[in-house]
Amino acid sequence: MEKFKNIVLVGFMGVGKGALARELVRRDPSLYALDTDDMIESLTNTRIKKIFATAGEAAFRALEQKTADWLAENVTNAVISTGGGFYKVKNISAIGTVVYLKADFDWILARILGAPNAKKKLKKRPLFQDVEKAKKLFEERFEAYEKIADIVLDVTETDTEETAKKLLEKLKRGN
Ligand code: S3P
Repeated sequence: MEKFKNIVLVGFMGVGKGALARELVRRDPSLYALDTDDMIESLTNTRIKKIFATAGEAAFRALEQKTADWLAENVTNAVISTGGGFYKVKNISAIGTVVYLKADFDWILARILGAPNAKKKLKKRPLFQDVEKAKKLFEERFEAYEKIADIVLDVTETDTEETAKKLLEKLKRGN
């Protein structure tokens, strides 16, 4: 694949950003997969859920900004999956090509609930404890994701392999 700085995957909780990053790296071994939530957990040696519970959401957002600054400065050739609120960092475009994985809320919910480890997936996400509140957050963010994206990929009803193929084609074509 042609070289680019990084691919930054953004989108709502549970849309499949991590799974897509792993699939892209499987297809192109010259890339490396990173995940901003994992980076924050290893940096602080604390689970995201605990950071929210003890330090609060603002502290978590500050850690996301620190992570964004470090990635923009130091990382290339990576596919970076991000937390659902990472799109708010001030320098996201400096990290790489921003790809928004767009999907219906109901499809996302079904994807999470249909996973074999659904309980665990829900438990680790402090902002997905209440479905109605999560839906409201989704509606609040919907347009903002599109605004900051270089590429919008509709992934509703699409499996990870198909999405990876679509994205690689788009990147090749340059749109
Ligand atoms: C969040 C999404 C989570 C995680 C944190 C906050 C959000 O990541 O960063 O719980 O604000 O949407 P996922 O999108 O991987 O669930």
